[in-house]
Amino acid sequence: MTFPVHRPRRLRRSEALRGFVRETRLSTEGLVYPMFACPGSKLRTEVSSMPGVYQQSPDQIVEECRKIADLGIPAVILFGLPERKDETGSEAADPNAAVQRSIAAIRKAKLNLLVMTDVCLCEYTSHGHCGVIEDGEVQNDPSLALLADAALSHARAGADIVAPSDMMDGRVAAIRGRLDQNGFADVAILSYAAKYCSAFYGPFREAAQSAPQFGDRRSYQMDPANAREALREVALDLEEGADLIMVKPALPYLDIIQRVRQRFDVPVAAYNVSGEYAMVKAAAAKGWIDEERVVLELMTSIHRAGASIVLTYHAKDLARWLNHC
Ligand code: PBG
Repeated sequence: MTFPVHRPRRLRRSEALRGFVRETRLSTEGLVYPMFACPGSKLRTEVSSMPGVYQQSPDQIVEECRKIADLGIPAVILFGLPERKDETGSEAADPNAAVQRSIAAIRKAKLNLLVMTDVCLCEYTSHGHCGVIEDGEVQNDPSLALLADAALSHARAGADIVAPSDMMDGRVAAIRGRLDQNGFADVAILSYAAKYCSAFYGPFREAAQSAPQFGDRRSYQMDPANAREALREVALDLEEGADLIMVKPALPYLDIIQRVRQRFDVPVAAYNVSGEYAMVKAAAAKGWIDEERVVLELMTSIHRAGASIVLTYHAKDLARWLNHC
C-alpha cells in the first residue's frame, strides 16, 4: 500500500519546489538560429510562411547576428540563395557567394558567435535536387566532390562547423578528407545523419527557393517509417568522421532522438524545422494557442528526448523568454 505514504504531489506544491526537482532545464546554451543569406546589399525580405524570418543580404545578416550574440545565443547556421542556379550548383562553392560573404562579415565584426553552414546543393541547382542529375536520377558519387568543394569554401571563409544536409552516402568522409588536406583539420562536421523525407520542410523551400523541379527527395532522404535505419545512418557518419550528429525534423521524431542519444556518446542535435515553426506561428496568430507556453513545452520535449543542441527559428524568442526580457 503506497498511499498515503507516497504523495508525488508534495513536490509540485510551489514553483520553488517544482524548479528544484525539475529534470530538464532549458537554457540558451545549445541554441542555433538558422538564417537565409541572399546576394546584394540592404536587402531584407520576410518569408511569408515563416513570420519573423527573413532572406537577407550579408550586411543585414551581420546586423542581426549582433543582436543574436547579445541575446546569448551561441550559434547560427547559414543557408544561401545564389545569384544564378545551374545544373551542378556551382555557386555553392563560390568564395563571393552570399554565405561565404556573410561568414567573412561576421568574422570581421568579431562577434562571439559560432558560425555553422548548411552544406547542400539544392538551393544552388536549377533542378532543386541535393546532388547532380544524370539520366533523370540524383547521382551519389559525382555529387561528393561538389559538396566537399562547398564545405571547403565555407571553411576558407571562416566557418567553425560545416553541416552536410544532402544525404548522399559517403559525404562526411569526402568532406573530412578535403578539409584535412587543406589545413582545416579543426573545422568540425555536424552531420544531418538521420534526415527524413518530410513534408515539414515546405516553408523552408519557399525561404531557400529549393523545391525540387521534378520528383521528390525519397531516393536520398530517409523513409519516415524507419527507426533502426536511423541508427545505422548515424553509425556510418560517425565512422566517416562526423563530430556531432543531427536528427531532423525534431517533433515527429522524438523517438529517434531518444534512441540515438541512448546508443551514441556524441553531441546530438535536433532540427525544429520550418513546418514545425509555421504551425505554431499560424495557430498563435489566430489566438488559438499561447505561443510562449507552447514553444517552451516543445523545446522541453526535444531536450527531454535527448538533444542538447536545437536548431530552431524560435531561438530569439526563446532567448528573450529564458532571460526574462
Ligand atoms: C537542404 C535543407 C533542407 C532543410 C535544411 N537543409 C530542405 C530539404 O531537405 O528539402 C530544411 C530545414 C527546414 O525545413 O527548416 N537540403
